[in-house]
Amino acid sequence: MGLRRRQILFIIGMAAGGIVAGAAHSLLNSSNANNADRNLDLSSDRSPEVNSSQQSTTNDPEQLSQQTNTANRKSKRGDKIAPEGLYAPERGDVRIVVISDLNSAYGATDYGDEVKKAIALAPQWQPDIVLSGGDMVAGQTILSPEEIQAMWDGFEKHVGKPIRDAGLPFGFTIGNHDASSWRSPDGGYLFALEREMASAYWQDPAHSPNLNFVDRAGFPFYYTFAHNDIFYLVWDASSDRIPDEQIAWAEQSLASDAAQAAKMRIAIGHLPLYAVAVDRDRLGEVLANADQLRALLEKYNVHTYISGHHHAYFPGYRGKLDMLHAGAIGDGPRVLLNSSLPTMKTVTVVDVFFDNNDTVYTTYNMADMSVVDHQTLPRMIVGPNGTILRQGVSWSDLSAAEQASSPHGWED
Ligand SMILES: [Fe+2]
Repeated sequence: MGLRRRQILFIIGMAAGGIVAGAAHSLLNSSNANNADRNLDLSSDRSPEVNSSQQSTTNDPEQLSQQTNTANRKSKRGDKIAPEGLYAPERGDVRIVVISDLNSAYGATDYGDEVKKAIALAPQWQPDIVLSGGDMVAGQTILSPEEIQAMWDGFEKHVGKPIRDAGLPFGFTIGNHDASSWRSPDGGYLFALEREMASAYWQDPAHSPNLNFVDRAGFPFYYTFAHNDIFYLVWDASSDRIPDEQIAWAEQSLASDAAQAAKMRIAIGHLPLYAVAVDRDRLGEVLANADQLRALLEKYNVHTYISGHHHAYFPGYRGKLDMLHAGAIGDGPRVLLNSSLPTMKTVTVVDVFFDNNDTVYTTYNMADMSVVDHQTLPRMIVGPNGTILRQGVSWSDLSAAEQASSPHGWED
């Protein structure tokens, strides 16, 4: 937790508050008008599931597209960039927009206003990439194939196509409402059809997320890609159990030259390692064996684990691992543990600074597009399987009473 981060968070905190929604609303309105024309016919043939590892090459059209995107980027490190009227953070070497938990009620084919606003605004932060913490559609219930297809059609219309049209790569992790990996006692997937249809959506070349894959053998459930000197590992945390084989794959991937030669490593999964939200503070809502998984990520110098599922924004860390708990932009924002703050839907802009290996989060409250003041967030969150601290807070900063309230102890 460098001094730089603390300084910037303080500045962000001072800037929080009344920064403007009017411009955002007008942008949303004009963008919605454009999006109205983006209804696709998805009845075309879908490609069969690809199950072979593909290594990227310089001839890879996706990689070439990536290079084009980077070349077309207008802003540079240090520029203050945001949609008009919003607080504009200093651009890092890499800028990432993080959205998560987009869905509405079970079976929904449309999205709430905050989702549409976030998607409309995302290109205007001029990010290099958009990441999603999962729950992009509203399954994990009894739905017909037609109903599941209608949800993915809705995702394509409101999220997938607008992001592609903006020329933005889209790295995502599968959530429990997209295609849960929850298994029955006989070992089969309880939501096998949802998994099949989520895979079909993402395997369709027309829906390419525009990623420079390093290993897509397990795509869309687990895969790796590289972008702007960052190596990304996505695992299937759509239930609390990541299979042993996949953990072995993750270790092999993180140990690879491609991963270790990158300037930074980021891992993404839907369930967090540790709890941050009320009513999600129980086993099953966090990854099993979180300490062991964290040790794996730390061993290979993963900087940050990005997750969703808890519907509450929290910039946390434990040990050497930063954890960006992305807030929801869809239905059901939740109250943070150890907090009396009202719920909020959020989108986070992450600026990555390679020279000091730092990341700076600027998180916007979708209600009024004000910036979340990190100082208002709890300094410590005690969950059922571990305690995490707010980034920038040290264990020694806590009072004796706070330290005593954590049954899990701490490690620096
Ligand atoms: Fe979820």
